[in-house]
Amino acid sequence: GEGLERLQAIIARHAGTEGPLLPILHDVQAEWGMIPEAAQPIIGNALGMTRAEVYGVVSFYHDFREVPAGRHVLRLCRAEACQSMGADVLADQVRVALGLDWHETTADGRLTLEPVFCLGLCACGPAAQMDDRLVGRATAQRVVALAEEAR
Ligand code: FES
Repeated sequence: GEGLERLQAIIARHAGTEGPLLPILHDVQAEWGMIPEAAQPIIGNALGMTRAEVYGVVSFYHDFREVPAGRHVLRLCRAEACQSMGADVLADQVRVALGLDWHETTADGRLTLEPVFCLGLCACGPAAQMDDRLVGRATAQRVVALAEEAR
């Protein structure tokens, strides 16, 4: 079908280059918002890799998702400067309050929680990002309120 043709066009664009797998996966995710399970053996075949090898790469890089993200994405910074400002405690509180662990999406598809490594707000950590909106000196209360406002 049409999806397969688009996938094959992406593969053709990168096949023959050095290290084609990551660029292919990035393009697939840009196209479909995820790396569909059905695409993995097709990519593997084209590159002479097993399905397990492709899957290993997809699951190693947290940027690649195997299920689509929710309509809204809340990111909490996990990098060092924010950790020294209490990012771990913030993350624990937010995960409990939202009932989500990293990379999880609410059952209604509304919200996904993702870790992120530096949002460029290191001087005012802990930092968070609710969709496009950056939040410095984030508190659980503030972050959860923003997450709950997003419909
Ligand atoms: Fe958190 Fe840079 S370390 S924003």
